[in-house]
Amino acid sequence: AKILLVNGPNLNLLGRREPGHYGTQNLATIVSELQSAASAAGVVLEHIQSNAEHEIIDAIHATDAQFIIINPAAFTHTSVAIRDAILGVAIPFIEVHLSNVHAREPFRHHSYFSDKALGVICGLGAQGYQFALQAALKHVQDNNA
Ligand code: DQA
Repeated sequence: AKILLVNGPNLNLLGRREPGHYGTQNLATIVSELQSAASAAGVVLEHIQSNAEHEIIDAIHATDAQFIIINPAAFTHTSVAIRDAILGVAIPFIEVHLSNVHAREPFRHHSYFSDKALGVICGLGAQGYQFALQAALKHVQDNNA
């Protein structure tokens, strides 16, 4: 089985970007921990981080994953196009945010993804990705059984 992890714009700066909101761990560390946990469960975790909307859309179109974990970052609040890409491939997904977007500026309160997500995790920092992965692993294993 395969899970695709998608991280949107500016998440390449994790670790040095507004650590009060986003923590001090860098993206490479977060992703390698997730990949170890996935491979221990016999699942491949593919990862793309991009600052470009079209690259995220192309990765979603191209994937043969059974499940997507996505932090669309700022595109959460703007991108009908990424929403349509996920709905177009009809792959179930969990939406993750490091920060609690509901405790921040009003423009972060709306998501173009949440109403279509299997679940949404926010405010728990990098741990949110681990919780999402646990749920994703259960989902793919239940669906393969
Ligand atoms: C974010 C929250 C978004 O509002 C913001 O634009 C990001 C990161 C988060 O993980 O908390 O870039 O998705």
